[in-house]
Amino acid sequence: MRFRLLKNPINVQWELIPNCNYKCFHCYNYWRTEGNVSGHIDYGIVTSQLIENHIFNVTLTGGEPLLVFSEIKPYIEKMVKAGIKISINTNASLLSNEMAKFFKANNISLLISLPCCVPEINDKITTVKGSFYSTVMGINIAKQNKLNFSVNMVVSKLNKDYVIDTAKFLRNELGLNAINVTKASRPINGSSDFDDYALTLKEFRELLENLIYIKKEYSMSVDSLTVYPECSCDSFDTFNDFTQRKCFAGKTCLAIGYNGDVKACARDSKSYGNLNTKSLQECWKSMDDWRIIDDLKLPQECHDCDSKYSCLGGCRIENSNEIPGKCYRDKANLPIKFEIEAEKDFDYNLTDTFEVISGLLFFEENFGLRGVSLRKDVFFVTQQLYSFMVCHHTFSKEDLMKEFEISSEYANDTLTYLTKKNAIKKYN
Ligand SMILES: C[S@@+](CC[C@H](N)C(=O)[O-])C[C@H]1O[C@@H](n2cnc3c(N)ncnc32)[C@H](O)[C@@H]1O
Ligand code: SF4
Ligand code: SF4
Repeated sequence: MRFRLLKNPINVQWELIPNCNYKCFHCYNYWRTEGNVSGHIDYGIVTSQLIENHIFNVTLTGGEPLLVFSEIKPYIEKMVKAGIKISINTNASLLSNEMAKFFKANNISLLISLPCCVPEINDKITTVKGSFYSTVMGINIAKQNKLNFSVNMVVSKLNKDYVIDTAKFLRNELGLNAINVTKASRPINGSSDFDDYALTLKEFRELLENLIYIKKEYSMSVDSLTVYPECSCDSFDTFNDFTQRKCFAGKTCLAIGYNGDVKACARDSKSYGNLNTKSLQECWKSMDDWRIIDDLKLPQECHDCDSKYSCLGGCRIENSNEIPGKCYRDKANLPIKFEIEAEKDFDYNLTDTFEVISGLLFFEENFGLRGVSLRKDVFFVTQQLYSFMVCHHTFSKEDLMKEFEISSEYANDTLTYLTKKNAIKKYN
């Protein structure tokens, strides 16, 4: 199986600095043996490359990105002006009203790390006394300034018993209606000592069941921000909600390290070049080993599995020998007995009319065009469908069927796809 090479990546994670004011046990900052690392690539070089390559979403991360807020601010302005959507991963402890106002004005969203609702446990994980209160203060500032943000709790044995309490705290004390809970993976530089604190398969499953409980009992939206193999879940609800996130490293995404190294995934150590000497395009094109999926790239246990091309074997980094993490593959669940609930397609009438939403951008690819809506949804169309959308500001389902000589069902699929991607909207 081979993924198509897009002309440019769509999403980029940019690590602004390696340093942080916290030292979370589950983070590479804690496990660093080389002492303090400092310095970073010239932000102007990276910004120009991101703009030249028409990147749509850039996630600024670190270390702690807010440590370099005043340095990165002018480059954020440039990126936003060029139409790039920015989000920031932060522990929020340094978030000020001034920063929040800037983020609000530039439509920047935040993903805020909060390890636990119990201050002592939170501070034990971050290894910084008072960090719970600093982060909660940051969350309150984000809330007061009506920022678009959500909270991420990374879970190891240290905080696994506080997931439900943390969700309750976010809902009852902070008025939030969503939580992300992500199992702690072994950090890229973490030693095997970390594995004593990683969740067992049983604890991992309990974690996901707790998320289903939070969703049902507290009506909160829940998510988990990493890739889990399809055979890791033994209940329909957890399978349906948490095994559908797939790895897009090297396919639609890449990561830029603080020193300018370009990698397919932030957790990988392999660099495809440095932006001081190579263009982002050159690095992107040379990541072909992430686009070809064959048995050589999959763990031995996956070779005979019917689901291998949808599952891709879970996280490739965790499958590697470099950081052999706990991937939670479980052959006892094979063949996969659950089926994902298909999203319902709309059943449109022949005379239903659709309007092409203005402001769409299109970029040529080798296989057709990549479209981007004003809301930054990315979608793919053939050259013929693109020409049709350009020539017909409004069209009916019947027009579409006649033009492409397709069935009603196929037209429904196409119209549903374009509607969900905010490329068209129903007119009457
Ligand atoms: C490395 S942090 C850097 C940004 C910022 N300092 C923060 O904590 O959000 C980026 C994201 O990775 C998450 N993270 C850190 N260590 C992790 C681990 N071992 N497993 C899974 N996620 C982790 C953090 O919670 C955060 O959402
Ligand atoms: S706050 Fe973020 S970067 Fe800092 S140590 Fe924790 S996870 Fe790592
Ligand atoms: S055996 Fe491998 S490919 Fe199959 S579901 Fe498990 S992890 Fe995925």
